[in-house]
Amino acid sequence: MGKILVTGGAGFIGSHTVVELQNVGKEVVVLDNLSNASEKSLERVSAITGKKVPFYKADILDREALEEIFSKEDISAVIHFAGLKAVGESVAKPWEYYENNIAGTLTLVDVMRKHGCKNIIFSSSATVYGDPAFIPITEECPKGVCTNPYGWTKSMLEQILSDIQKADNEWNVILLRYFNPIGAHKSGTMGENPNGIPNNLMPYITQVAVGKRDHLNVFGNDYDTHDGTGVRDYIHVVDLAVGHVKALKKIEEKAGLKIYNLGTGQGYSVLDIVKNFEEANGVKIPYEITERRPGDIATCYADATLAKKELGWEAKYGIKEMCEDSWRWQKNNPNGYQ
Ligand code: NAD
Ligand code: UD1
Repeated sequence: MGKILVTGGAGFIGSHTVVELQNVGKEVVVLDNLSNASEKSLERVSAITGKKVPFYKADILDREALEEIFSKEDISAVIHFAGLKAVGESVAKPWEYYENNIAGTLTLVDVMRKHGCKNIIFSSSATVYGDPAFIPITEECPKGVCTNPYGWTKSMLEQILSDIQKADNEWNVILLRYFNPIGAHKSGTMGENPNGIPNNLMPYITQVAVGKRDHLNVFGNDYDTHDGTGVRDYIHVVDLAVGHVKALKKIEEKAGLKIYNLGTGQGYSVLDIVKNFEEANGVKIPYEITERRPGDIATCYADATLAKKELGWEAKYGIKEMCEDSWRWQKNNPNGYQ
C-alpha cells in the first residue's frame, strides 16, 4: 500500500481522520484549497501524532495540480472529503455547488484513473435518504428526494462513482453515509470551525455557551417525536474518523462497491442535546422555540449493523463525551483556529 491522499484533509472530519490514519502508521498526503479550513488544523494534527503532515494547497478542480501530486507521490487510495457543505448557501449558489463538488470529483477521479489509482472512499451523507422511507435507516432504504443542491451533489456523486465502479471493476468504491458528526478530539486542540453563524446544532450550542450568541433557536416543537423537536443520530467525529480507517482496510481487501451508514443507531432530539450539554458541562443554554426550518425532517437515525458486520466498526463514544469534547474545543479556542 502506498500513500493515502486525503482531500479536504484540513477540514473538520478530514483533520480528525488524518490523526487516526497516522496513529495506525499510514502515510498520508493532504490536499485542501483552504476555502473552509485553516492550515493550523494540520499543525494541531502533527502535535498529536508527532508526525509531519505533507500538505498541498490545491483545488480538486485544478487538473495540473492533481497531476503533479499523483506524479510526485505514490498514492494508492484517496479519502475524498473535499467539498462545499453549507445547505442554505447551496440553495443560493447551486452552480458553485455543482461545479465544486461534482466537476471537482470528476476531475479528481479522471486523474486518479490515469495514474492507476482506483481506490476511493467518498464522504456521503444521510441526506441522500431524503425524508426516509423507514426508521432506523438501513442501507437498503431507497434514496429519496433531496431538499437542496448540496444534498443532490451527494446523491449524484454516489450514482456517478457507482457507475464508474460497475463499468470497471478494478475500482474499489466505498460510499460512507455520515449521520450528524459532532464532538472533537479529546485534546481540545482540534474541532469544528464554522464560518459566520453556524447552521448546525452543536456549533450553535457551543457558541451560545461561550457567549457569542445569546440563545439557541429550536426549529419547531410540533414534530411527531417524543418531545416535538427534531431527532437525529449524532456521532462523535473521532468514531467517524476511525470508520474511515476501517473502510480503508476493506478497500485493501478489494471492496468492489460498498455503501455503509456511519451512525450510532441512537436518536436524540434537539432538547435532549440541550439537556445533555448542560448536564455534561455545567453550563446553561437558553433557548426559544421558533418556526420549523424549511427542508427539515422529523426523525433520522441509522441502523448501523452493516458497518459493524462488514467493517468491524462501531461507534464507541456516547452523547456525554460528544458534548464534553465539543465544549472543550470551543472553550479552549473561542475563535476556532484564528
Ligand atoms: P469541512 O468544510 O470542514 O471540510 C471540507 C474541506 O474541503 C474544507 O477544508 C475545504 O477547505 C475543502 N474544500 C472544499 N472545496 C474544495 C476544493 N474544490 N478543492 C480542495 N479542497 C476543497 O467539512 P467537513 O464537515 O469536514 O465535511 C467533510 C466532507 O463530509 C464534506 O464532503 C461534507 O459534505 C461531508 N459531510 C459532512 C457532514 C457534516 O455534518 N459535517 C455530514 C455529511 C457529509
Ligand atoms: C443538516 C443538513 C444536512 C447535512 C447535515 C450534516 C439541513 C436541512 N440539512 O442536517 O443536509 O447532511 O446537516 O451536516 O440543513 N436545529 C435547531 N436550531 C439550530 C440548528 C439546528 O433547532 O440552530 C435543529 C434542526 O432543526 C434539526 C437538528 O437541530 O432538528 C439538527 O440540525 P443540523 O445540525 O442542522 O443537522 P440536520 O438538520 O440533521
